[in-house]
Amino acid sequence: MAEIGKDIEKAKWILEQGDLVAIPTETVYGLAGNALKVASITKIFDVKNRPHFDPLIIHVPNIEHAERYTEEIQKPARKLMEHFWPGPLTVLLNRKSIIPDLVTSGLDTVGMRCPKHELTQQLLSELSFPLAAPSANPFGYVSPTKPEHVNEQLGHKIKYILDGGDCKVGIESTIVGFEEDMPLVYRMGGLSLESLEHVIGKVQTMTHSSSNPKAPGQLKSHYSPSKKVFVGNIEELLQQHPASRIGLMTFKKDFHYRHQFVLSPSANIDEAAQHLFTALRELDKMPIDVILAEFVPEHGLGKAINDRLIRAAALG
Ligand code: TXA
Ligand code: MG
Repeated sequence: MAEIGKDIEKAKWILEQGDLVAIPTETVYGLAGNALKVASITKIFDVKNRPHFDPLIIHVPNIEHAERYTEEIQKPARKLMEHFWPGPLTVLLNRKSIIPDLVTSGLDTVGMRCPKHELTQQLLSELSFPLAAPSANPFGYVSPTKPEHVNEQLGHKIKYILDGGDCKVGIESTIVGFEEDMPLVYRMGGLSLESLEHVIGKVQTMTHSSSNPKAPGQLKSHYSPSKKVFVGNIEELLQQHPASRIGLMTFKKDFHYRHQFVLSPSANIDEAAQHLFTALRELDKMPIDVILAEFVPEHGLGKAINDRLIRAAALG
């Protein structure tokens, strides 16, 4: 198993050796390595069992650092970065050639992210290179929001997990790209569409486009536990699965089931996001055959939560 600790110097040393460290962010835990070193990037793909066509995003401590690795940052992108960094926003920018092809799967753009987490901010500002960091889970599985989640699945493959406690946001960053300066949301996430649109006006979203090669993160079957997930109206789903051993995941309603997880008893959408991946992981471990989940209201982070539910169910 990996060591879990708060030692930034140790994390730094391991990363400088070209090895990997799991890092906390406000969204989910990342599996981090030196983004400028092909050997480290290769390790990330290997540990996650991730196909090379799925590009990685790069973590920096501020806009100034992002400028070292990208061509001129256009106005709308800069506006978003100034407004939301550090925070759960990844922007797709034109990369400089210092970023290895392997990071971007050959794309001209690179995803840049500035996470809002004290430990990781400190680590990033002390390092002489940026960190490539996908979510620290095996490819296709639910992202980790606690150090223990990382240890359960990747603990035998990495040395160190930097312990930043539970992730506050709980779902991955919102990814925004630009076509001719027009913002396009590639992945809904921890920054709500309302917040984005408040700053740059109407944005287009690219949702559920399972086969779009420009956004491999949009793969239809993603964020999936190993149990079958069905999403919809709970009462109807219960009728459709009479003989199964059932686990329930609801937004606020308590069905008094033995195996269930209520995301937010007080109906708070941010709290629901924070608990979503823990709920899916816990249910996955329970002695049940299927997970029946209901959609949450579509405001704030609700759209991103429902997007994850749809994809978790895609394998069903
Ligand atoms: O919140 C997050 O973004 C977390 C934390 C650790 O920062 N990271 C994360 O990384 O979720 P990952 O690799 O699990 O998801 C990033 C997604 C991938 O699905 C990838 O396909 C997409 O971003 N992506 C990366 N670079 C891209 C690019 N240049 N164009 C389109 N999509 C890109
Ligand atoms: Mg991921």
